[in-house]
Amino acid sequence: MTILAIPGSLRTGSINRSLLEAAVEEAPEGVTIRILDLAGLPFYNGDLDNPADWPAEALAFADALRSADGVLFATPEYNHVFPGVLGNALDWASRPLGSVAPLKRKPVAVMGASPGLIGTARAQDHLKFVLMTIGAQVYSASGLVVGSARAKFEDGQLTDSETRRRLSLFLEAFVTYVHAEPVPALC
Ligand code: FNR
Repeated sequence: MTILAIPGSLRTGSINRSLLEAAVEEAPEGVTIRILDLAGLPFYNGDLDNPADWPAEALAFADALRSADGVLFATPEYNHVFPGVLGNALDWASRPLGSVAPLKRKPVAVMGASPGLIGTARAQDHLKFVLMTIGAQVYSASGLVVGSARAKFEDGQLTDSETRRRLSLFLEAFVTYVHAEPVPALC
């Protein structure tokens, strides 16, 4: 099983990227977690939204989403919502490009880390709402919220053992969900 992991931050030293790197290390047996950077994805532009004009980076992004069994987002919280870089990615991911939108019926999960006490809980709720709106199968039994993150990461490594334990349980639960929610063949 392959899980595509998407950080909602472009920042060097992003704690959300570090959280996904820890997820790669904690991946359950038989599961490959691959991090996909959004840095090269252009802004969605309706003028390009036809099969002849989709930018190569957006096509590659859609292909990566389509070929993954599930998608794991790690979102920062900017002004109580998820960053625009993720909103832009979801705009592309919601477009059908002549067939079915790449996130339609795709099992997805959301987590996030921030220095604040409530660790992206508000941003995660907004992100789940948008994911549901575009038809993804959102794993919502429990999110993984990592607050007070400055004390939990050091030099890009998740050093807090309790958070690592919670991350591992979260990944196990999401993978079980992905197994139970096979992506149906849509046409
Ligand atoms: C923030 N930050 C922030 N944190 C939070 O818990 N709630 C919030 O509403 C905001 N708002 C916000 C707005 C903007 C524009 C910035 C740049 C930052 C702080 C944010 O959580 C912190 O910078 C994280 O480190 C960002 O995540 P990455 O880049 O480390 O993954």
